[in-house]
Amino acid sequence: MGRIIHKKCKQTAENFPIFTQVKENPIVLSWLKKSYFVTKKMDFTEHGFNHAEFVAKRAKYISSSLGLSKYNQDLSMTGALCHDIGNFLSRTHHHYFGSILFFNIFQNKIKIEDLTILMQVIANHDKEGMKFTHPASAITVIADKSDVRRERVLENDLEKIKESIHYRVNYATVDNELLIDKKKKTITLKLKIDKKFCRVMEYFEIFMDRMNYCRIAAEYLGYDFKLVINDFKLL
Ligand SMILES: [Fe+2]
Ligand SMILES: [Fe+2]
Repeated sequence: MGRIIHKKCKQTAENFPIFTQVKENPIVLSWLKKSYFVTKKMDFTEHGFNHAEFVAKRAKYISSSLGLSKYNQDLSMTGALCHDIGNFLSRTHHHYFGSILFFNIFQNKIKIEDLTILMQVIANHDKEGMKFTHPASAITVIADKSDVRRERVLENDLEKIKESIHYRVNYATVDNELLIDKKKKTITLKLKIDKKFCRVMEYFEIFMDRMNYCRIAAEYLGYDFKLVINDFKLL
């Protein structure tokens, strides 16, 4: 079983030309920075560059572990990095805003076939009844929805953390690994939760939708999605 959270890989412009270009774009960086402040103001978990980078690295790990081509890895990492750029405008429909904004930045910089796939990845990542037409979309959903960890809680006051279920669930998560077993065709999210802050069932209740998205995405990739919390198999 491949037991790595973020495998180290050479992210050169030669290997991943689209990702390199997008990651260095000042507009993308500026919008991610703004998204951080907007979602912080809304008492959300961290939704800035850190989340974007985590999701991109996880997308790289998933796509390379599944044996996708460098080109499809490049698309997966790029879509994952930019999936939340629309948050600075509005949390509601941020996936649609992000998709259109992405087109506006890169319409003359990325060829239309790749641009179209990336727009679909961004628009699709938070949609009811999501349908996948490219592995980059499914990979971005798994990478995004599995990003639950203590560092994403921007609140420092423990009392306030305890009052909010979303804070509690993230704050309680002290270890987060994604395991891919190519032989058994499973993608497993393995979490360690500090039960002082959140009960296992509470986690499951709040993340039911997210885990369902992961299951649908894994199915599209030909895999079963599994969830293990504190060594209990929940899915
Ligand atoms: Fe999102
Ligand atoms: Fe996200």
